[in-house]
Amino acid sequence: MNHTEIADGPVPMSLLPDSARVGPRGELQIGGLSVDELAAEYGTPLFIYDEQHLRSRCREAREALGEGTAYASKAFLCAAMARLVNEEGLHIDVASEGELFTAIAAGVPGERIVFHGNNKSLSELSAARAHAVGRVVVDSFDELSRLRHLHEIDGLVAQIQLRVTPGVEAHTHEYISTGQNDSKFGFGLESGAAEEAVRNCASNPGVELMGIHQHIGSQVFRVDSFARALEVVAAFSEPLGLPELSVGGGLGVAYLESESAPSITEWGEMLSEACNQLGINARVSAEPGRSIAAQAAITVYSIGTIKEIPGIRTYMAVDGGFGDNPRPMLYGSGYTAFAPTRITEPRNSIARIVGKHCESSDVIVQQAHLPESLQVGDLVATPVTGAYGYSMASTYNRMPRPAVIFASDGEARPVIRRETIEDLTILDLG
Ligand SMILES: Cc1ncc(COP(=O)(O)O)c(C=O)c1O
Repeated sequence: MNHTEIADGPVPMSLLPDSARVGPRGELQIGGLSVDELAAEYGTPLFIYDEQHLRSRCREAREALGEGTAYASKAFLCAAMARLVNEEGLHIDVASEGELFTAIAAGVPGERIVFHGNNKSLSELSAARAHAVGRVVVDSFDELSRLRHLHEIDGLVAQIQLRVTPGVEAHTHEYISTGQNDSKFGFGLESGAAEEAVRNCASNPGVELMGIHQHIGSQVFRVDSFARALEVVAAFSEPLGLPELSVGGGLGVAYLESESAPSITEWGEMLSEACNQLGINARVSAEPGRSIAAQAAITVYSIGTIKEIPGIRTYMAVDGGFGDNPRPMLYGSGYTAFAPTRITEPRNSIARIVGKHCESSDVIVQQAHLPESLQVGDLVATPVTGAYGYSMASTYNRMPRPAVIFASDGEARPVIRRETIEDLTILDLG
């Protein structure tokens, strides 16, 4: 994929968090606070989330997708986020013991947690039982055996959904496409594995089969892909008379002004329409992640070096990189950039924004349009970094991970502190 920005006007407000405003100095404000002042106080790189944007997307999801809608915490999770999601009435989807522990420690009741993963260990499944998680989404025959084995020990019965692969193209990057037959996730419908899994459940005292689950992929713009998957899965699940059917997550978001995505409300309307047309009786639920968190945040960097190679390009190196945003490197994802102190200015000059990791592929924006004459020490920011940014962050080159703050109504609260050099050596022995 090769994404380049074509526009050279100011950064579109539609890509910024809901509370984004232009301050008196022509600077960007989020949650009533000037981004440059936040950067001065908390340092860079810095993730700034608009807390009200997160809350409003959670409420929209609850309204459009109904009771039982779960936030997919892999998009972005910390204690404050788990608490916020719980306060806004969403359930939470976790995919590891670490995510489960974070949600529980933040006070999310176990019954509001859905536990995912294609290779849940005995220890993870035991933790799920210890915290009485509401649903385990079972992904394999090995997991069914583990649940049977645990039942023999503790007598508990897990309420489960079976994850199936409907064999439907999601029209997204192959690495985030999960509903096709050739997938590491779930039981294939076409191969007969899903049918066999249902038979296994009937004779497995360790499980109570509540429903079928599917997730066709992430960053999906075409709602017809969801409708098609629903049709295929409902044809399998409805005759079983199961009370639940989950369509997973996957709704795409715009990262560039050339992109547009359906809203959560539109997605919900499409799903209800498809359910009506197909005469689905099961309670249908969903698990949005990206569509709740992505546009809620920006990442702010400081420019460290600017190198012009005549006739070739300008490289602008910032104090972060793929350690805080691996998406461009993983999927060739496109981003735009802007100068938070000069938000209304045209962006007439072009540079490649790169990070400071020791990899040539450490590129954040291939072809960034920015205001002219940005200098070393100035701030530059990327919008739409609230999902799969911090949660995929790494410490490659032993670079500490950034701080994360929530801004709302003129107040900022740090929700993840900046990692220190001491944190990075804490696991070293000898
Ligand atoms: C099972 C499941 N549900 C929900 C999601 C969330 O997807 P998204 O963030 O694209 O909405 C994912 C993402 O990978 C997933 O694997």
